[in-house]
Amino acid sequence: MNTNTTPTSLRAKSVPRGDRPASFVVDPAAARRQVWYELASGATGLALALFMWGHMFLVGSILTGEKGFNWVAHMLEEYFIAQPTVAAVLVLFIVHAVMAARKVPGQLKERKVMRDLGRDLNAYGKGFPGMARGDERFQPHVESMLWIWQVRTGMIILVLASFHLILLASNVFEATMQGGLAIDATRTLARVQGGLWMLYAVLLVCVEFHASVGLYRLAIKWGFGARLGRHTLHRIEQVLLWLFLGLGVVVLAVLAGWLPAPLEFLLKG
Ligand code: HEM
Repeated sequence: MNTNTTPTSLRAKSVPRGDRPASFVVDPAAARRQVWYELASGATGLALALFMWGHMFLVGSILTGEKGFNWVAHMLEEYFIAQPTVAAVLVLFIVHAVMAARKVPGQLKERKVMRDLGRDLNAYGKGFPGMARGDERFQPHVESMLWIWQVRTGMIILVLASFHLILLASNVFEATMQGGLAIDATRTLARVQGGLWMLYAVLLVCVEFHASVGLYRLAIKWGFGARLGRHTLHRIEQVLLWLFLGLGVVVLAVLAGWLPAPLEFLLKG
């Protein structure tokens, strides 16, 4: 009796090992290496996302005015908390970028495929009555769109955050060598109001999207919160995105001088 229940069309043909295409042959060492790369990119991504939430509260001290911002910044530098943090973030940023770059389409031809796929997915459902964006049938495409934007925002962050990190790191280490302090409200307000707000505005949107979607994808990939289900995790991701984006916009508006520090009254007197 034939106990094999696999349909004939799905049964793998017995191809001699030497004749198999390279992609068909599984190299256990290479597979193990990929798992390590995946763990490294996930762990560094998680650490950077957590750092960015902390960073939001540190920079957000500007909401209490220059006095509050300087108290936080000077304390972190004087007690040598800022210096190792800057170095650690630089390392995490580089490792994360290198590990994640494995998945970025490298060739122009592949980039065009990704661009066309994004365009097609965006058009998907349009013109079909009753096929709204929130429709269940749209779900698999939402996941693909998230991946595409994850790659795009990652590439923007790589350029803009490298500039920001190099600027801040050189300020901090130069000041430490000279026995001074680098991060100061007067300097920060001058450079943001001098035009850096444009860079920070783009960086802010990309970082908040990249971090919240990254955490959502990490939770799905490694099964954290599996009991919550994809739908609830997606909702949590959206709450985090809008919460930190909203907070970031208010912080940036105060840094750019468009809004007075709303909590300044707390440190008056
Ligand atoms: C340890 C490293 C870091 C330090 C010390 C630092 C410090 C600062 C400071 C002092 C500001 C105020 C503006 C200024 O002075 O130029 C700022 C703003 C900002 N930083 Fe960083 N930063 C670090 C890492 C990062 C990273 C890795 C990112 C993103 C990937 C980032 C994204 C931003 C954004 C978007 C703003 C604008 C403020 C907002 O609207 O929330 N920073 N950072």
